[in-house]
Parts: sequence; C-alpha cells; structure tokens
Amino acid sequence: MCGIVGIVGNQPVAGRLVEALKRLEYRGYDSAGVATIVDGRLERRRAEGKLFNLERRLAEEPLGGTIGVAHTRWATHGAPTEANAHPHFVEGVAVVHNGIIENFSEIRDEMTAEGAAFTTETDTEVVAQLLAKYRREGLGRREAMHAMLRRVTGAYALAVIFEDDPSTIMAARSGPPLAIGYGQGEMFLGSDAIALAPFTNEIAYLVDGDWAILGRDGAFIFDNDGNRVERPRQISSAAAYLIDKGNHRHFMEKEIHEQPEAISHALGHYVDFLRHEVKPVTGEIDFASVPSLAISACGTAYLSGLIGKYWFERYARLPVEIDVASEFRYREIPLNPASAALFISQSGETADTLASLRYCREQGLKIGAVVNTRESTIAREADSVFPILAGPEIGVASTKAFTCQLAVLAALSVGAGRARGTISAEEERELVRHLCEMPRIMSRVLNTIQPAIEQLSRDLSKCRDVLYLGRGTSYPLAMEGALKLKEISYIHAEGYAAGELKHGPIALIDENMPVIVIAPHDRFFEKTVSNMQEVAARGGRIIFMTDEKGAAASRLETMATIVMPTVHEIVAPMIYSLPIQLLAYHTAVFMGTDVDQPRNLAKSVTVE
Ligand code: AGP
Repeated sequence: MCGIVGIVGNQPVAGRLVEALKRLEYRGYDSAGVATIVDGRLERRRAEGKLFNLERRLAEEPLGGTIGVAHTRWATHGAPTEANAHPHFVEGVAVVHNGIIENFSEIRDEMTAEGAAFTTETDTEVVAQLLAKYRREGLGRREAMHAMLRRVTGAYALAVIFEDDPSTIMAARSGPPLAIGYGQGEMFLGSDAIALAPFTNEIAYLVDGDWAILGRDGAFIFDNDGNRVERPRQISSAAAYLIDKGNHRHFMEKEIHEQPEAISHALGHYVDFLRHEVKPVTGEIDFASVPSLAISACGTAYLSGLIGKYWFERYARLPVEIDVASEFRYREIPLNPASAALFISQSGETADTLASLRYCREQGLKIGAVVNTRESTIAREADSVFPILAGPEIGVASTKAFTCQLAVLAALSVGAGRARGTISAEEERELVRHLCEMPRIMSRVLNTIQPAIEQLSRDLSKCRDVLYLGRGTSYPLAMEGALKLKEISYIHAEGYAAGELKHGPIALIDENMPVIVIAPHDRFFEKTVSNMQEVAARGGRIIFMTDEKGAAASRLETMATIVMPTVHEIVAPMIYSLPIQLLAYHTAVFMGTDVDQPRNLAKSVTVE
C-alpha cells in the first residue's frame, strides 16, 4: 500500500527521502515520486515501477531543497503511470496521499464544472485542486488545509507542501497511519516508524482526525475540531531491526528461516518454558467467562484464525464465530455482548479488520488484538493486545507472522482451556511442552527438507493449476498453501477440505493436476488417504506431505513424498507451514517472479 515520507530539514532531502521510501518498499507499490522546494519553486521527479527508476531519474536530474515529500503509490484510481504518480502539483501545492478519497468524483465533477482542469485519473488530485482553489479564494495555508479536510471523506494519510512556505509540511490522518518523527533541527513524517528509523527513534502517531503542521523545530497537532492537542511521543524499536536480507536472496527466504527464533521469542511471552504452563497474559479478556469468541481477519491472518477456531473449540470448548473481515460486519451476526472478539493482523492497519473491530466494539464485545505491530491502530483500539513478536516482516507473502500468530493462538487456546476447566493441569503441561519443542523441530525441518522441496518446485513451476487438500487444521493450512503459491508464483491454486473433493473439485483431476495433500498421521489420516485414493484413481499427481508413520502407512504412488517429523497435533500446523512456504518460495524463484513484492499486492492493505 502507498508509503509517505516527508522531511523539513537543514540539509538536502531528496536522497534521504528515497532512502526512507526504500524502507517502505515492503508495503507494495507500482510507481514513486519525490517533490522538494528549490529556490522558492516546487520541483518533482516521478517514475513508474520500482524505486531504482526514480533513482535513475534523480541521477539524471538531481533535486535540491531542504524540504520535501515523497511517495510510493499502489494504484487504486488510475493506472500506475508517471502521470498518476504522486506528488500531485496544482498551482504551488504538492500532495502525497495514502488511502481513498471516497467523494472524489463528486468533488471532481463540481470543480470541473467550475473550470478546474484535472490532469490525472487519481482520487488524490482533488485534494491538491481543493487546496489550490481555497488559496485562490484568499484563505491562508492553514485555513485552506482545514477547509479541504472538511470537504473530503474517506481514508487518508496526507502530506502537503506549499511553494510559498519552504519551512512547513502539513499532514493529516483519517485511517491509514502517519507518524511524526522528532529530530535535531529537522522534523520527519512517515507512514510508519520503520521509514523513520534512520532519522530518529522519537515518534508520535497522529490519531484519526488529527492534522499537523511540521516546522524544523517541532510540530503542532490539531484534532478534528481544530483544537491543539498533544500526542504521546514514544521511543520506537524499529531502529533496532536490521531491514536487510542478510545472506538470503529474498526477505521471504530470510523470514522463513527466522521462524524457529521468532516462534521461540513469541512463545516466551505466553508460556513458561520451565513449568510448561501458560502465563496469565489475557488482560481484560476473561476467557473463563466468555460464552463465545468471534474472530476476524484477512488473508493469511484469517487462515491462522481459522486454525485458532479448531483449537479454541477443541481445548477450551469455546464456540468460535469466524469470517473474513470484509464480510464479517455485513452479515449482521447476532453477537453476544458478553463475548470477546479477536482481530488478527500482522500490520495492525488492515482497513477491513479495523472496521470489523469497530463493529464489535459497538456491539459491546471485549476486543483482543493479535498483532505484530504494537504501535498500530488495531493494537491501540483493543482492550487487550496479544503481540506476536515476529519482528518486521518485509516480504509481502506472510510467513513468520503466520506461524507466530498460530503459536500465540495455540497458547491462548490452551490457557483458555485451563481457565475454563476443559483441560487438566497435566494436559496443559503436555500441550505446552509440545509447543516449547516446536522451535527445535522447525530448525531441524528447515535444515533437511530444502533439497527435496527445491527439486519438486522445479516441476511445480511448469504447472498451470495446483490443488491443496487437508482435513482438520490441515484444511486451513491447505488454503494457506494455495494462497502462498498463487500470490508469489501466479500459478492458480486452490485449497480444499479433503472431504469436499468429491463434491466438485474432483472434476479437475487429470494427469496434469498436481494435488498437494497435507496429512500428518493424525486421527483424520485414514479418511484423507481415502481422498488421496480418489485422486490417484483419476491419474492425479499426488504430492504427499506427511510424517514417517504416514509415509509408511500409505501405499499410494506419489509424485513426491515430503517426510516430516512425527509431531503432536497442536504443533503440526506450524511445522507443516514450512514445506508449504518453501514450496511456494522455490517455485516462484524458478519462475523468476518478484518474490518479495509480487505484482498487484500490498503488504499493508489500508483501504476497504
Ligand atoms: C499473506 O501472504 C498476505 N499477503 C495477505 O493475505 C495478508 O495476510 C492480509 O492482507 C492481512 O494482512 P494483515 O495481517 O497485515 O492484516
């Protein structure tokens, strides 16, 4: 999703703005631009595609100036062309924007009728046009900003510079996050703390409805009604994270390999490694007394929630209502106000998830946030925050955030089971012991399965469609496998409950269709093997992911069998995530796609 950076500084800013944009690359984008004020005149450089195109433009035509704003654009309204790239200029006003101005077409029609000439297809241009119009009508910069904010609706993080004021950046937030960074004689603005990390670790997040005026020595923040407000400054930990690939080819590869350590770190917050007990960390959510649980999230985070549902229902006997966040609030689910709701989000900024959270809050439910970014909006609006502590995830395809979400949900469900008396102290110790062993098993798997997966990926990279099957918690994992493969390799893939095969998808099976079956030797194994037989009987090529016992028990001929260690069923989803992630990764590498920033995708989806 779009990224915003701004600097009002005492040295040239263009290079530093582009460096900061690079730290936002992980969000996904398809064009970029930078604007500064040089000798009292607004100047800009923009380019389609990746940041190196913008850097090339800047090398050909350098940009001076000690104040500037910059942007990576993830196209929503209008193609990802240079003309649509931000910053947008209208009569001495430069604007960068993340989000969607929902009433843009109404404003555009009205202003076109008044004679305004629009030069882009974007919704953002109305912001620059409105500011220019209000200035023409005689309003000062601040008044023009205030009037513009009253006129536009929708979701926005905005940064604005005016040609006639080379010492001020104006910013506003309604929805997507925006952080102010405090420096020495310089001030910064960024979509997140990661972008600002090279400049400062002292940041303050604007609250929804806030707007701000940044000068070199500080910032004035105003609320929706125009009243001066203070927002707490915090010391960000983002600087502590090295945003580089180490010796890996891609961030995704690095993040896959970070999982044993990340999970250990996450689990350490929730369980006592010595006593094998879940720590009392549930805050305002009393799992012992809630009659039910609602879970909502998007994409991979939703799939981790789906696995969580199996655990909460099995271990805590707690009924779980779950849906993707983009549907959740439209279903008008009869929610019990005595219940609790969990929202799962790596970024903590996903617009649909946030909207579901607010919907549940209105219904009176206690809100829990399972997030990676503690400073995020979803975390801030929750009653209890359950950090997944995965560290920054830069690859657009979620890997370590998924398994850390699972680890946290597993621990919470065991803790809930204990609190509700549905599992005994002994069962708790047994389950937690298995969770504690998981990082070690993951390391072993990562060290052993790569050659087999790489070989298999070569074959998979030639396929057009792939089917994933699983039963129990392996079913959401099958969907996650399909999601991972399609998002980075662009191969069409679907995940199905193994038992559903014969109700439709079996029609797809022929000798060209690889079917990936995720089936540890658990209580569902025999049934899943029957489904595999249905595939084999129709010539389908089976890729079997199972354990030693499963491999020995099945006599079916497979295209490949990936043999995993035998593990307890509570840790199987995390352990089997590794082969499905690696398979998607290596297939994409063989196909030569942009693994870390796949086409059309954004890391943080801040529009509905
Ligand atoms: C996963 O690989 C995705 N790129 C995507 O589905 C993601 O999980 C989803 O957009 C939710 O994001 P969030 O966790 O930041 O809310």
